[in-house]
Amino acid sequence: MSDDPTDVRAFFAVRAADWDSRFPDDGPAYAAAVEELDLRPGDAVLDAGCGTGRALPALRAAVGPSGTVLGADLTPEMLEQAVRAGRRGPGGAGTLLLADVGRLPLRDGGLDAVFGAGLVSHLAEPVAGLRELARVVRPGGRLALFHPLGRAALAARHGRRVTPDDLRAEPRLRPVLAEAGWRLVSYVDEDTRYLVLAVREAGPGH
Ligand SMILES: C[S@@+](CC[C@H](N)C(=O)[O-])C[C@H]1O[C@@H](n2cnc3c(N)ncnc32)[C@H](O)[C@@H]1O
Repeated sequence: MSDDPTDVRAFFAVRAADWDSRFPDDGPAYAAAVEELDLRPGDAVLDAGCGTGRALPALRAAVGPSGTVLGADLTPEMLEQAVRAGRRGPGGAGTLLLADVGRLPLRDGGLDAVFGAGLVSHLAEPVAGLRELARVVRPGGRLALFHPLGRAALAARHGRRVTPDDLRAEPRLRPVLAEAGWRLVSYVDEDTRYLVLAVREAGPGH
C-alpha cells in the first residue's frame, strides 16, 4: 500500500467497521504499553493515529479526569467507530481530531507525551511527521511507538519477512527520530510487543 494520505484513508476506511472485533484481545497489551509512558495525573497526551481509539481508555486512566486526552486520525470512518464505542467526549475517554499527524492543529509544546500505535510505517514523510509530533510536545516529553506484534510476527501475519530497510528497525529508526527531535531511549522488538520510547530533545533547531 502507498503511504499517500488519500490511500491511507481509503485503506483504513474499509477496515474500520470490524477493526476492534478483529483484535479483541489486545487491550492488556495497549494498557501495558501506555504504562511505559509514565504519565501523571493532569498530563496532556495525544494518541497519534488513534484509529478507533483503542488506547484512549488506558490513556485516560493514566492522566485521570484532570488530564487531557486527544486522539487524532485522518480516517473519518475510524473516528466514527471510536464515537460508536463511546470513546469520545467528557463521558468517554478523549477528544477526537480529524487531522493528519503531519499537520496538527495544536500549539507548540503543549503536550507531555504522544502515543502512536501502528502509525509510523504509514507516514508518507516519517521525519516530517515525527518532527510535527515533537513540535507539539514539551522538551523532555515522551513518545511511545507501539504495536502489539513485533516486526517479525507482523510480517508473518501478512505473509512477508522483515526487511532491513524497514523504518521500524532500530538502525533506521534511531537517526530518523534524532533528525525529528527525539532521542531514542528504549527499543523492544519481540513477538508480542514492539515498543520504542523516545524523549523530546530541547536542543537548538528542535
Ligand atoms: C494500523 S491503524 C492503528 C489504529 C490504532 N492506533 C490502533 O492501534 O488500533 C493506523 C491508523 O493510523 C491512521 N493514520 C495513518 N497515517 C496517518 C496520518 N498521517 N495522520 C493521522 N492518522 C494517520 C490511519 O487512519 C489508521 O487509523
